[in-house]
Amino acid sequence: MADTDQHQAQPLGVIILAAGKGTRMRSERAKVLHHLAGKPLLTRVVQTCHRLHPSRLVVVVGHQAAAVQEACREDGVVFALQKEQRGTGDAVRAATQQFAGFRGDMLIISGDVPLLTSRTLARFVADHHAHRATLSVLTAQRTDPAQYGRVIRHANGQVVRIVEARDASAQERSVREINTGIYCVAADFLFSALDRLQPTNAQGEYYLTDIVAAAVRAGLPTRAVLTPDCHEVEGVNSRQELARMETTRQEQLRRQWMDAGVSFEDAQTVYLSEEATIGPDTVIGPNTHIKGKTVIGSNCQIDGNTYIENCTIGDNVRIYFSVVLSDSQLGDNSSAGPFSHMRGGAVLAPHAEIGNFVEVKKSTIGERTKAKHLAYIGDAEIGREANIGAGTITCNYDGFRKHKTRIGDRVQVGSDTTLVAPLTVNDDAYIATATTVRQDVPAGALVFNRRQEEVREGWTAAKRDKEKKIG
Ligand code: UD1
Ligand code: MG
Repeated sequence: MADTDQHQAQPLGVIILAAGKGTRMRSERAKVLHHLAGKPLLTRVVQTCHRLHPSRLVVVVGHQAAAVQEACREDGVVFALQKEQRGTGDAVRAATQQFAGFRGDMLIISGDVPLLTSRTLARFVADHHAHRATLSVLTAQRTDPAQYGRVIRHANGQVVRIVEARDASAQERSVREINTGIYCVAADFLFSALDRLQPTNAQGEYYLTDIVAAAVRAGLPTRAVLTPDCHEVEGVNSRQELARMETTRQEQLRRQWMDAGVSFEDAQTVYLSEEATIGPDTVIGPNTHIKGKTVIGSNCQIDGNTYIENCTIGDNVRIYFSVVLSDSQLGDNSSAGPFSHMRGGAVLAPHAEIGNFVEVKKSTIGERTKAKHLAYIGDAEIGREANIGAGTITCNYDGFRKHKTRIGDRVQVGSDTTLVAPLTVNDDAYIATATTVRQDVPAGALVFNRRQEEVREGWTAAKRDKEKKIG
């Protein structure tokens, strides 16, 4: 942030407001903990503010304080508690102690503006410093100003005050310049102005917005700074707004990955997590969900209708249609599906292949090993170049405990095999079709169950006759 450092002559303090109930969300969960592209709204705002390198960053918590603090645990922030939610002005006042003796400017931001960028913030702070303002408020033009506070300016363009939609006259409501809820204020003025706030408005709350008129009345340099992109500074107040913002963010993420060399066959149907990364020349088919901290390499092909969460996928990996992958790793040149499921720390080594209706749980499938049809592989370690036949099942659970199955290199597991764990099948062993293996198999051995096969000629006709007589 070169331009921030240049203008940031004095220390910058940040206050993020996150104590409100978010009544309009109709949620048990605090509003700022709702997710956008898989990341809590508040985490986004905190991370954006960190990029400005403030000397103090305080998050005001109140409603569901413990849960909100827990969500910001990794972000190294300080918290202030607003015991009762009596408005945005009261919320900022709750952080007074954390800024005792602080000299400098305060950047105040609501925790519900998740698309805000550090670039816009840095420009705003730079403008504030360049004009030696006491108070600056960031504003935007909206064709539909809805419930936002309106920015009232004098005929000469100078900002006069901010009025909330529900306190505004019809004429004031027709104003399209809105308050983004982002302010830069000299600390000494801010805290003295907060002490003088009165809850004389439609909601009976202490409005932070009233400090604008207070600064103007005191004859202090006060600025309303218009930002060009009104979508970036949108607040989330309802589920509908959150859904619209998700659409916007998903579009931005897809554009970002397309610019980085990723192809989408039907871009609008793909869901991307904020934390996912995708390598160039990877092609992503329709209805693919890429969630959590997923890393996808380059030149992969993901056919579509697939759910991937917290997975690491190498280069040149093929994921066929309709696959579910969570908490798993797929090595370079491996392939999965169609209709396969990997979970709980499953690993496909390079060039390994799993196919139709194969489930792999907490197991490693070695290099160039194949399990192409109808298998359950759980708590197993399989070596390289082995072949797991159709209908193979690792019986890993005895009703009390999970047990491990170890299968060596180049082992041939015949179709319809049950492997009763704990069990070790050593290298180059050969398991005949339809075998139940209960004991360890030495290297290079053949294992099969002895059983007699009987063929009874004419049996079906006799059975039918008998049934007819009974019926
Ligand atoms: C506020 C502004 C409005 C502006 C809009 C921009 C006021 C009075 N109004 O309205 O002019 O257009 O933001 O998005 O400031 N909060 C607390 N404690 C409280 C109340 C709120 O911490 O007692 C927090 C909320 O958690 C939220 C933020 O303050 O993160 C803003 O509160 P919200 O209720 O969303 O205010 P708006 O009605 O959107
Ligand atoms: Mg809001």
